[in-house]
Amino acid sequence: MPALEDVLAKIDANQPAALERLFNLLRIRSVSTDPAFKDDCRKAGQWLVDELSALGFEASLRPTAGHPMVVAKAKSGRSGVPHVLFYGHYDVQPADPLDLWETDPFAPRLADAPQGQRIVARGSADDKGQLMTFVEACRAFKESGGLPCDVTILFEGEEETGSPSLPAFLEANKAELAADVMLVCDTSMWDRATPMITTMLRGLALEEVIIKAASRDLHSGLFGGPAMNPIRVLSRIIAGIHDDQGRITLPGFYDGVSELPEEVAAQWREIPFDPKAFLGDVGLSVPAGEADRSVLEMVWSRPTCDVNGIIGGYTGTGSKTVLPAQASAKFSFRLVGAQDPEKVLESFRAYVRSKLPADCRAEFMNHGASPALQLPFSSEALSRARRALQQEWNKEVILGGGGGSIPIVGEVKRHLGMDALMIGFGLDDDRIHSPNEKYELSSFHKGARSWARVLDGLAD
Ligand code: BES
Ligand code: MN
Ligand code: MN
Repeated sequence: MPALEDVLAKIDANQPAALERLFNLLRIRSVSTDPAFKDDCRKAGQWLVDELSALGFEASLRPTAGHPMVVAKAKSGRSGVPHVLFYGHYDVQPADPLDLWETDPFAPRLADAPQGQRIVARGSADDKGQLMTFVEACRAFKESGGLPCDVTILFEGEEETGSPSLPAFLEANKAELAADVMLVCDTSMWDRATPMITTMLRGLALEEVIIKAASRDLHSGLFGGPAMNPIRVLSRIIAGIHDDQGRITLPGFYDGVSELPEEVAAQWREIPFDPKAFLGDVGLSVPAGEADRSVLEMVWSRPTCDVNGIIGGYTGTGSKTVLPAQASAKFSFRLVGAQDPEKVLESFRAYVRSKLPADCRAEFMNHGASPALQLPFSSEALSRARRALQQEWNKEVILGGGGGSIPIVGEVKRHLGMDALMIGFGLDDDRIHSPNEKYELSSFHKGARSWARVLDGLAD
C-alpha cells in the first residue's frame, strides 16, 4: 500500500490537470430532466467511463430505461481489505433562469473571491466537482502504486429527477454492487473549515394536484358568482395545510417523527450556528417553520410541506375576465424519522378531497416518494472516516443532518442492506440548483485529499 504522504503529494501535484479534467466534464450539458439533453447525459457517462478506464478501472456504461449508469471496478490486489462502493451523480439541474448567470453555465471558469478561488459552473458542486474528488484520490493512489481498498464506483445520471431507474438497477445488479460500505459524496461541510459527516437525510414525497370544476373556461361576468372557481378551492386547500404555529395539520402527519437522541441534540445546541445570518444571507429574517423549533432542527430533523408551483387561469399580459376550468399545484413533503411516504400522501389526498365543494374534482399525480434516512451515529467505518477527516481539516468533525434528499442511500439500504457514509465538501452558499453555482477550489483540492485519507483509514 503506497504511503499516504506520497498519495497526498501526488494529489497536490496533480491539481492543475485535475481542474482541467473537471472543466471538461462540466462542459457537458447533462441536464437529466430535459429530453433535449439526452445525448449529453450519455456523453457525460461515457466521459467518466473513458476516464476511469484510463485509470485502470474495468468500467462500462450500462443502459437503463432512462439515462445510463457508470459502473467501474478496481481491485487493490491485497487480501483482507474492505470493499467500498462509491456513489455520485453526473446529471445536473437545468441551468435556467439563464439571464441570472454572470457567464455561460456550461463554460466553467475560476473566479476570485475574498476567501479564495472558486469554480463556477452548473454542476460544479452538485455533483460533478464532488464526484471528481474521489476519482482524483483514486488516480493518486493508482499513480503511487495501487488502491488501498477494493473499489466499485457507481455514477448515476438521474439523481436530479428522483432516480427512477435506480431500484430496478440495484435489484438486477445486486451481486456485482455488493460491498462492505457505501461512500457518497453529494452533501455539504458544516462550513468552509469544518468537515461534516451527514448521518440523516430527509425523505421526499412529490405530489401534483389538479382541481377541476366547470367543463370549460367561463366568462366571469356571465358565470361569476354561481360558478365555483378552482383557484379559490386550491387556495383554501393550500392555506389550510399549516396552522398559525407553522405545524402541518394533516391527520397523522407527525406519526413516526421522533425527538433527537439527547447526545445529538446536545451537539446541535453547541454548534456555532447563527440563524440570523443563515436567513439574512437569502434576504429573510424570521423563520417560518414550527414556532417551537430551532432553525437547525427545521432543516435537518423536522418535516415540511411546500408548494413548489401553482398553475391556473390567465397569466399572460394585461387582463382577462375568466373563470378557469382547472387549477393545479405541485407539492413536496420533506420527511423525517419513520414517517411513511405512502401514509403521508394518503392523508394529504384525503384532506384535499375533504375540502372539495360540490361540482369539484381532484386528480392526483405522483412524482416519486422516498422515506427519510437515519444512519447509525456510530460504527467502525464512521469512526475511521471521522479520524481521517479530522487529520485533513484539523477540526472536530460534525455529525449533522442534510435537508436535501439522495434517493440511492435509502435504496441501497433496502436492496443491498448496506449503510452509507455521506461525506461531502459543498458549502451552504454554493448555490446548488441556482444560477452561478460554484464549488470552492479548496473543496475540490482538500476533498480529494480527504478521500485519500478516508480510503487509507478504512484499509488500515
Ligand atoms: N445533492 C443534493 C441533495 C443534498 C444537498 C443533500 C445538500 C444534502 C445537502 C441532491 O442532488 C438533490 O438535489 N436532491 C434532490 C432530490 C430530488 C430531485 C429527488 C432534492 O433534495 O431536492
Ligand atoms: Mn446532488
Ligand atoms: Mn441536486
